[in-house]
Parts: sequence; C-alpha cells; structure tokens
Amino acid sequence: MKHLLSIADLSRDEIGEIMDTAISMHDVQRRQVKKLPTLRGRTIINFFFEDSTRTRSSFEIAGKWMSADTINLTGKGTSVSKGESLRDTVKTVDAMGVDMMIVRHMASGAPAQIAQWTNCSIVNAGDGMHEHPSQALLDAYTLRSKLGDLDGKHIAIVGDLTHSRVLRSNLLCLRALGANVTLVAPPTLMPSGIGSWAATDSFEVSYDLDAVLPHVDAVMMLRVQRERMSGGYFPTAREYAVRYGLTARRLALMPRHAVITHPGPMNRGLEISADAADDAQSLVLDQVSAGVAVRMSILFHLLSGEGSSA
Ligand code: NCD
Repeated sequence: MKHLLSIADLSRDEIGEIMDTAISMHDVQRRQVKKLPTLRGRTIINFFFEDSTRTRSSFEIAGKWMSADTINLTGKGTSVSKGESLRDTVKTVDAMGVDMMIVRHMASGAPAQIAQWTNCSIVNAGDGMHEHPSQALLDAYTLRSKLGDLDGKHIAIVGDLTHSRVLRSNLLCLRALGANVTLVAPPTLMPSGIGSWAATDSFEVSYDLDAVLPHVDAVMMLRVQRERMSGGYFPTAREYAVRYGLTARRLALMPRHAVITHPGPMNRGLEISADAADDAQSLVLDQVSAGVAVRMSILFHLLSGEGSSA
C-alpha cells in the first residue's frame, strides 16, 4: 500500500490491520517518552490548503513520535498565493525528495491527482466533499474499542450529509466492517442520488431522528458545514437544532450502552447540545486521542514496508 486516498482502496483485512497496529501505537502514546525510531530519516510534508486543527496536528504529532522529519505547508504563505499551480507546487516539493505528502484540499480528487504527479506516498487528509479516510479509520477504531467487533452493530450517521467527506469515508469503512448504518438528515442535506447509493450498498435512510435513536449502538453526529453552503438548506439554526440536533431529550431516547461521536469541530447548540457533547457516553475526546494512534499506524503501514514490525 503506497497511498491512502480512499477507504474503497482498503480491504476489510487491511482496515483491521491498521486498527490493530493502532492499539500498540496507543500504548506508545500513553508512555512518558513518546518516541519510536521507525521513521527516522523519512520526511513528511503536511500540505493543508484548507483549515484544520485536529487532523493537521495529529498527523504532525504522529510523524514526530515516529521520528520522521515533519514540515507544515499551507496555501497561505507559500507560492500558491502568488498563483503557482497545484501541479508546479507539489512537483517542486516532490523534487526535494520527500517521502510522503499528507494533503488536505478543497477540491475533491486533488490528492489522487497529486499521486499521479509525484513519486511520494500521498495521504488524503480530506478532499472537498469526497473522502477523509483517516477520520473514518479513527472513528472505527474508537467505536470498536468501546463496542467491540462492529459486525452487526447499528450506527446512525446524522447531520449535514450532503457536504460531508466524513460520511462518505465512514459509510465505506463501517459497511466493510459489517456494521448496519442508518443515515439521518433533513431532505435538503441528504446527498442527491442517495437512492442509487442505496441500490448498490446496504444502508437505511431516515428523516426521523427520534425513531432511529432507540435502536442505535452509536450515533455519529456530523457538523453543519456552513462554509460549503451557498443557499438556505434549512429555515433557521433553531429549527435545525429542534429537528436534528442531539439534545438532552434525545439522549434519553438512546439505549444506555450507546455512544456518541463527532469528528469535530462541533457547533454546540446546533447539531449537538452541550449535554450530549459532554455526556459520559460521548467519545469526542477519545476520537482525538485515537486520531494520533491511528495516524501513527497509517504512517507505519505506508512508509515502513510490509512485514516489518513497530
Ligand atoms: C472534519 C473535516 O474537516 O472534514 N473534521 C475533521 O477532520 N476533524 C469534519 C468537519 O469539518 O466537520
């Protein structure tokens, strides 16, 4: 495996291997001295053309804890702001001899295109509304560590699904692991063409969150992505929160064992209330913690070659 561009490129076994390696990486994370020699001498560029807190810092920490040299580049502050093309920019960085580029870009497909232009490993750290594979892997890891094997578990993915790359990667990942998935959104935020998705894959679609919640093992709340919205997708924020927000009243509808995830950043009071975000069943910070371990595992699998061990 050279690149991580889409969950669709991974088999169920490969997903399992990345999660299994992440367990040992999580142990490293709990040590006082967090350093493995595994990627000594390797150079990783974090190339973020879109804003990020969690993804960028956790990839950088993951690289550093594995002894790689990591460098951050953004659109601002590079020659991109002088009008240099994406192709010229990435070919320039590639010519320096880096081993990996971790790319976040507003255009769907940009990391796959960059993989064609360069010789290094490419990790998709979120491309437009397309995919965010490392997020799906850390979500699956977090869910598995709380719920056990995800085969047959019922997971509802709720919110602004139209604009969500997290949805697209998670749907592929959770289905590959055998989970039953229900997508819940207002009709305006349900991806168009979802009917044809439903024909080719098996998942449920619902517009009624109250009806779904009593049957879930996990509910994955997704952010209302206002920066990707050009028109009015719902009348008011208050109406969205009342119809589709995870509120204290809705928490009470969920089975006691059921857990809550959110990839962050959260809009508190919109898709998730403070009660739900801070509830004992909320795994939001577990996801952040798992994010570093899972990204260490991804770097390990892509850069240290098959058959070697951590
Ligand atoms: C997600 C993203 O950027 O796609 N966040 C993340 O990576 N933690 C989801 C989001 O922005 O809502």
